[in-house]
Amino acid sequence: MFDSVDSEVPKAIVLGAAAGGGFPQWNCGCPVCSLAWNGDPRVIPRTQSSVAVTGDGATWILLNASPDLGQQIRATPALRPHPSSPRGRHSPLVAVVLTNADVDHIAGLLSLRERQPLRIVALGPVHAALDANPVFEVLARDVVEREIARPGRAFEIATGVSLEIFAVPGKAPLYAEGEDPEIGHESGETAGVMVEAGSTRLAYLPACADLTPSLVKRLARADVVLFDGTLFTDDEMVRAGLGLKTGRRMGHVPISGAGGSLEMVRNLPARRKVYIHINNTNPILIAGSPQRRMLDEAGIEVAHDGMEIEL
Ligand code: MLT
Ligand code: MN
Ligand code: ZN
Repeated sequence: MFDSVDSEVPKAIVLGAAAGGGFPQWNCGCPVCSLAWNGDPRVIPRTQSSVAVTGDGATWILLNASPDLGQQIRATPALRPHPSSPRGRHSPLVAVVLTNADVDHIAGLLSLRERQPLRIVALGPVHAALDANPVFEVLARDVVEREIARPGRAFEIATGVSLEIFAVPGKAPLYAEGEDPEIGHESGETAGVMVEAGSTRLAYLPACADLTPSLVKRLARADVVLFDGTLFTDDEMVRAGLGLKTGRRMGHVPISGAGGSLEMVRNLPARRKVYIHINNTNPILIAGSPQRRMLDEAGIEVAHDGMEIEL
């Protein structure tokens, strides 16, 4: 409809590379956040978890809607409204795909409430969480369509982009998990996305409790893998005195250690392997740290806001 915005398409842009809370987190004085608060050049602040994907440069799909979405759109020229739109209102965003219903992935929906036609696409349990919360009714259902995706079924979502949403080991959202949540089930409360654009497949899994053999097989078909890099060490937050929960308890397989993601991800055939959804305590955020060097040596990148990935 409009002149092409960008010749370097298809592509993905990381809008927010941090986990819930962002980096630095508003109330955190942990050693890694302290570096960021002090402006240490070894660290770069990051907003909360989201990626945008386009096949044609004109229409974009949002993968998760973070509480920082307004700031992320303002920082990303490709996502601005087109100035000559006949309606006076316009957005290149045509759909939002949700991988779970955690606050860091859905709160940004509230910033998309100005009667802009959109599709919200997710597995059933994520829609159930939205449906259960009347605040999301600000997204008027006559213009914002809520679409339940069939797990593992690929469909075209925008010009030049098809995608598939599949359940991965996970858990209920933090605010709905109750006393003794089941961790690691594949009920659709936590999902991964396989995006196909051009001749490239990009897998995006910002939360994943376990890399099962069937999941590893699925990821082996991707050319680009963006994987859950929440914590480096399973008990990182417990040891820092910041919480009582391990990464696994939070539904995030840690990077290091036996059964950690590093040993699996490093061996995937993808041409780019990237950790994303990184918690502010994670030392991979520090350029030159021993943990970051381990990733450098394994050929794995650390996502940052604004990172562009050609598809
Ligand atoms: C998580 O990834 O574990 C959640 O975003 C936690 C939260 O909602 O803060
Ligand atoms: Mn999260
Ligand atoms: Zn911190």
